[in-house]
Amino acid sequence: MFNVVLVEPEIPPNTGNVGRLCLATDSTLHLIKPLGFSLEDRQLKRAGLDYWEELNVRTWNSFEELQRQQPTDARYFFVTTKSGRAYFDAKFQRCDFLVFGRETKGLPESLLRANVENCITIPMQGARSLNLATAVAIVLFEAVRQQRTGT
Ligand SMILES: C[S@@+](CC[C@H](N)C(=O)[O-])C[C@H]1O[C@@H](n2cnc3c(N)ncnc32)[C@H](O)[C@@H]1O
Repeated sequence: MFNVVLVEPEIPPNTGNVGRLCLATDSTLHLIKPLGFSLEDRQLKRAGLDYWEELNVRTWNSFEELQRQQPTDARYFFVTTKSGRAYFDAKFQRCDFLVFGRETKGLPESLLRANVENCITIPMQGARSLNLATAVAIVLFEAVRQQRTGT
């Protein structure tokens, strides 16, 4: 239904959990290298439970490579703490790409600067950021909700 992109993920259980979210929403998981782990990692598979083999997962050498292989009208949302636009104010469409940053550093500044209009955030207080898999769940299920309810 959607495309979830993790840019240079570092922690296997996070990616495992995101994989599970993708399977549960019929979404494709895109992983941008370098990865901080092997795709054979036991922790990754444990967090993804037995479902990993059923998941539609693709790996790319760079975000640019991923973009080059998509239709020119593909839409990207960059999910970052560094935006003033709330994710629930975005209007998601089927097949949109939801792009998330690495656990320690977030998305590269250059990517955010080049896509200011398409950056969204999860408003919060009292913490610097949310866990990566938690952030994916919040935005992905809002996108699913919009598809299901048409609002
Ligand atoms: C642990 S966070 C990265 C923290 C990094 N210091 C930063 O500020 O971007 C990993 C990823 O989760 C997503 N994320 C976590 N909390 C978020 C929030 N409140 N709003 C938007 N994205 C968030 C972003 O995609 C982020 O790159």
